[in-house]
Amino acid sequence: MADNDSRNEGVRFAASVPARPQPYTLKGSASLDWGMQSRLARVFRPSTNRTVMLAIDHGYFQGPTTGLERVDLQIVPLLRYADALMTTRGIVRSTIPPGSGTPIVLRASGGPSILRELSYERIAVSMEDAARINAAAVAVQVFIGGEFETQSVRNMTRLVDEGQRYGIPVLAVTAVGKELTRDARYLRLATRICAELGAQVVKTYYCAEDFDTVTAGCPVPLVMAGGKKLPELDALTMAYRAVEEGAAGVDMGRNIFQSTDPAAMIRAVGAVVHESAKPQAAYSMFLRPPAEGT
Ligand code: R5P
Repeated sequence: MADNDSRNEGVRFAASVPARPQPYTLKGSASLDWGMQSRLARVFRPSTNRTVMLAIDHGYFQGPTTGLERVDLQIVPLLRYADALMTTRGIVRSTIPPGSGTPIVLRASGGPSILRELSYERIAVSMEDAARINAAAVAVQVFIGGEFETQSVRNMTRLVDEGQRYGIPVLAVTAVGKELTRDARYLRLATRICAELGAQVVKTYYCAEDFDTVTAGCPVPLVMAGGKKLPELDALTMAYRAVEEGAAGVDMGRNIFQSTDPAAMIRAVGAVVHESAKPQAAYSMFLRPPAEGT
């Protein structure tokens, strides 16, 4: 046996074959630490570097909004179709089955309710607790142009510092408030500030004009927020345009969980995001969902 082993040794070490580096290809993420890349790879499907993140964190300032009255009944059945779930630690610990395997993007800021000034947020979760929950990322609202802009940016930069220690990425959510215009000029400003100050992922709204300049100017993956409920075809069209114009997927809430058929809708969004299905084809899938596994 010893003789055979020594004869094969050169073959097994393949000394003439150079090591094969496999760089991480998610936008702007090649130089991150292994743990952070690994967490991002749980959120962004490696085959497409895109994500269908289901946002259900609205209760942290809105209470039980329409479609989220019973997360156990309305959302848990959708987890199998989501690449990641954006939610709060209260919902995670009370309602999300640990065995679901769906990566958690943990809401980590909060404070004011819809009855108060929304930009007056603080960090609401320690990074240690995020690690305990096994969060794939933490999410923080950033109010560029808002009354408490600096405080919200400070929340984000503190989370980025702590996230670097733990290898947990930060998703910065650009909040537009009531008075700010969601045009490319504003969105370029807000998203770039978040990325420059260290957020590994940025979430923003879609704008019909020049959205490609928003994605191009943001050096990290940008995911599109859904916003108010639209007719399903309109929401699928918006998602299609966003990914065609450079978004790394969606972080969508009301347009999925307030749909007449949330499961069909998230599957249709998935076809747009991961298979580049055209809006009308995805809408047909929504109306007549294919059998499971096809
Ligand atoms: C808002 O503050 C939350 O981050 C929501 O998760 C976000 O707005 C996405 O939800 P929707 O698609 O309903 O806008």
